[in-house]
Amino acid sequence: MGIKIVSAGKALPSYSMSNEQMSAFLDTDDEWIYSRTGIKSRYICREETCVSLACRAADRALQNAGVKPEDIGAVIVATTTNDYAFPSVACMIQADLGLPEETVAFDISAACSGFIFALGTAYGYLKNNDLKYALVVGAEKLSRILDHTDRSTCVLFGDGAGAVVISKDDHKHVHKSWSRGNREALNCKGIGTDGARLNMNGRDVFRFATSALRQAIDETLKADGEDISLIDAIVCHQANARIIENVMKKYPGMESRFFINIEQYGNTSSASIPIAIEEMMQSKRITAGMKLLCVGFGAGLTWSGLIVRT
Ligand code: UT7
Repeated sequence: MGIKIVSAGKALPSYSMSNEQMSAFLDTDDEWIYSRTGIKSRYICREETCVSLACRAADRALQNAGVKPEDIGAVIVATTTNDYAFPSVACMIQADLGLPEETVAFDISAACSGFIFALGTAYGYLKNNDLKYALVVGAEKLSRILDHTDRSTCVLFGDGAGAVVISKDDHKHVHKSWSRGNREALNCKGIGTDGARLNMNGRDVFRFATSALRQAIDETLKADGEDISLIDAIVCHQANARIIENVMKKYPGMESRFFINIEQYGNTSSASIPIAIEEMMQSKRITAGMKLLCVGFGAGLTWSGLIVRT
């Protein structure tokens, strides 16, 4: 069996900050940011919390699925910026949406690859515990770990949450993952400690990301045993439009199946893939019966590819 995405939902803070607004307090400009990353603006939490965004996105996904809360057997949230060290965001969603007490609810931490690992974990619960549906969420309030005086990082990231309702289907499950045990390229000390600040060597991460993305696409397809031409959409983690553009050139004729929506969100880490899926479903770029390849990469360094159906 494999995974089928039944529906998606997203939630964003009400406040969006443009590149021009950032250049009012930082030594940066729209031309630098847009030409290097494809980003024009990003959402930043004011009133919202990581949990409130996650609950809203999960609620939308549930409404869009038309699934009853009692049919959700598991809620798994990928996040690195929960408002609390504990309890998990997942168990707050369980209560907020009125899901049964026997719902499996926990968070996982794998930075920007997190949503793919959460999907893979949810697959295990669907299969081994014979659950009907699972909610898989990516939610981040990255603004709380950004140094807003560091122009090399703060312009890149945004807050937001995305969620999908998944069920089992008859297709083969394909999921490949890698980890390199690297702390230097991208890290953040524990939230709540004085040093909780995102640090990144942008050039190293860019180099890593382009090769990791390519490897994840190639090896996941190899494990699937089918050609890339049979993939209807390739949904990559949205870290930088240039990373995705660089990789899509390696697959001539497939360019239009890669999706890029970083322009208005920035990099929302674990939330970027489910936000993209939600947008693609809303705009009918993803419709029922499609085969998607989802690919994540991020701090760790980790990278992962997974095939889902709709
Ligand atoms: O989810 C995974 C997370 N991260 C990523 O995927 C990030 C991957 N890396 C990247 O996307 C790119 O490396 C960046 C967009 C972060 C940076 O682009 P770059 O072309 O690698 O720039 P750079 O870091 O080499 O910096 C070039 C110059 C430097 O100035 P000097 O030393 O050449 O005078 C920086 O100080 O650009 C300067 N700079 C900026 N200038 C204006 C750095 N940030 C900014 C800025 N505005 N916001």
